[in-house]
Amino acid sequence: MLNDTFLTPAQIVAELDKYIIGQHEAKRHVAIALRNRWRRLHAPLDMQAEIVPNNILMIGATGVGKTEIARRLAHLADAPFVKVEASKFTEVGYVGRDVESMVRDLAEQSVNRVKARRQEAVKAQAAEAVEEVILDALIPPISQPAGIKTGVGFGSGGGDGTPTSDAELNERTRERFRQKIRNGELEDRKIEIQVAQGAPSIGIMGAPGMDESAMSGLQDMLGNMMPKKTRKRKVTVAEARRLLLDEEAGKLIDMDEVKDEAIRQCENAGIIFIDEIDKVASSGGKSGGSGPDVSRQGVQRDLLPIVEGSAVNTKYGIVNTDHILFIAAGAFHVSKPSDLIPELQGRFPIRVELQSLTKDDFYHILKEPRNALTKQYEALLQAEAVELTFDDEALLRLAEIAFEVNAEVENIGARRLHTVMSRLLNDILYDVPDKIGPNAHIQITAALVDERLSSMVKNRDLSQYIL
Ligand SMILES: Nc1ncnc2c1ncn2[C@@H]1O[C@H](COP(=O)(O)OP(=O)(O)OP(=O)(O)O)[C@@H](O)[C@H]1O
Ligand SMILES: [Mg+2]
Repeated sequence: MLNDTFLTPAQIVAELDKYIIGQHEAKRHVAIALRNRWRRLHAPLDMQAEIVPNNILMIGATGVGKTEIARRLAHLADAPFVKVEASKFTEVGYVGRDVESMVRDLAEQSVNRVKARRQEAVKAQAAEAVEEVILDALIPPISQPAGIKTGVGFGSGGGDGTPTSDAELNERTRERFRQKIRNGELEDRKIEIQVAQGAPSIGIMGAPGMDESAMSGLQDMLGNMMPKKTRKRKVTVAEARRLLLDEEAGKLIDMDEVKDEAIRQCENAGIIFIDEIDKVASSGGKSGGSGPDVSRQGVQRDLLPIVEGSAVNTKYGIVNTDHILFIAAGAFHVSKPSDLIPELQGRFPIRVELQSLTKDDFYHILKEPRNALTKQYEALLQAEAVELTFDDEALLRLAEIAFEVNAEVENIGARRLHTVMSRLLNDILYDVPDKIGPNAHIQITAALVDERLSSMVKNRDLSQYIL
C-alpha cells in the first residue's frame, strides 16, 4: 500500500477505462480521491491530521455503471475497501445490521490483507517447517534418551559406511525421504497429520439491547477460552502441504503487529463505498411522519458520526474514521439527493452525475470492456469448441434495439444489454452441442439480430415480458 508505485490519477482512469465506457467525470473524481490518499500520507505530519477526504456522492440512473465503478475501484485501490448497501442497515435499536458494522467489516478486511501479506513473506520459511512435519509423519525421528550419545562409542562398525546406530540409520532414511519429497515422488503417499480444527463456534442468542460488536466480541472471547482442538487426518503429502502451510505461516507472524498495522491502514487508506444511498432517503420530504421514512432517517442519522469521523470499536481495536474515504452512490429515481438530511448531504461535498448511456455507448459496451458481453459469450461457446463472432453491424443493431426498448418500456441502462443478448443467443446456447457440433462457426449478423429481436421491439406489450 501507499508506496511509490501507487497509480497516478491518469493511470487510475486508464484502468477504469478497461471496464467502464464513458462516465469520465465520475472516473476523474474517484481517481483524484484515490490519489489524494497517497498524497496525504506523504504530506508533513501536522498537515496529515488536517487533511480530510472529500467524500463523493455519485448520482445516476440505474444501470449506468455506479456499482461497476466501485467494483473496479476495489481492485485498483490496493487498500482496505468495503462496499455496503445502505438499504441493509437499520437504525440503532432495531434488529438488523447497525451502521457501525461497515467499519468493523473494513477492519476485518484490513486484517486479512495484512495477514495475507505477512504470510506471503514468510512462505519459504513456513514451507521448510511444513517439510519437517511431513517428514516426521513419514519417518518419525528416533527420540534420543537424554544423556546417551548415539553413534559414538556404541557403534559396531563406524567409518566403513555401514550404519553405526539406529539413530544414524534413521537420520539417513530421513534424508533420503527428504530428497524424495523435494523431487515430488511422494505426492500421493498417505500420511497422518494433526490439523487444527476450526475454532469451535459458539452460538449466542442476541439479547435485546446488545449490539453486534458486543456480540461478536463475546463470541470471540468464549471461542478463545476453549482449548484449541486438533484432529488427526489421513491425507496425501500434497494435501498435507496445502493444509499445513497456512498453519505454519500463521505461527511465524505476530498477530498483534498485524492488528496494529491493519488498523493503521484501515484508518489512513480505507475506503467505504455506500451503494444504494437513495434507498435511505425519505421520498416524500414530509417531516414528522412515521413508518419507513422515520427509520430511513434514523439510518442517515447513524451514518453522520461515522462519515464525519468517530471512534468505532472493533474486535481488533478502535478505528478512527476521520480519514476514511466514503463514496456513496444512488440512482435517486424516487427521491432526490436533497431528500437526504442536510447534515448528511454536507458530508459528501463532491457530487458527480453519471451520464445516461447513449446508443453509441451501448455499442462500445458490447464490444470493448475486458468483460464485454460478447467476449463472455464467445468464451462460453469456446468451451464447446464452437466459434462465435459478431459482425460490427450486428452490434450496432443490438445497441439500437436495447436503446429503443429502454426508451419505450423501462430504462434499465446497460443491464438491458444482458436481456437482449440472452434473447438473441438462447436458442444457440440450447442447441450446442446437441445440434450444433464442435468446430462450428456461428456468425451473428445484423440480419440475424433483426430476425430474432425486432418483432419484440415492435410489440411493446410482449417486450415487457420478454426483454
Ligand atoms: N458505463 C458502463 N460501461 C460498461 N458497462 C456498464 C456501464 N454501465 C453499466 N454497465 C454494465 O451494466 C451492468 C449494471 O451496471 P451497474 O451495476 O454499475 O449499475 P448501477 O449504476 O449501479 O445501477 P443501480 O442504480 O441499479 O444499482 C453491469 O453489469 C455493467 O457491466
Ligand atoms: Mg448499483
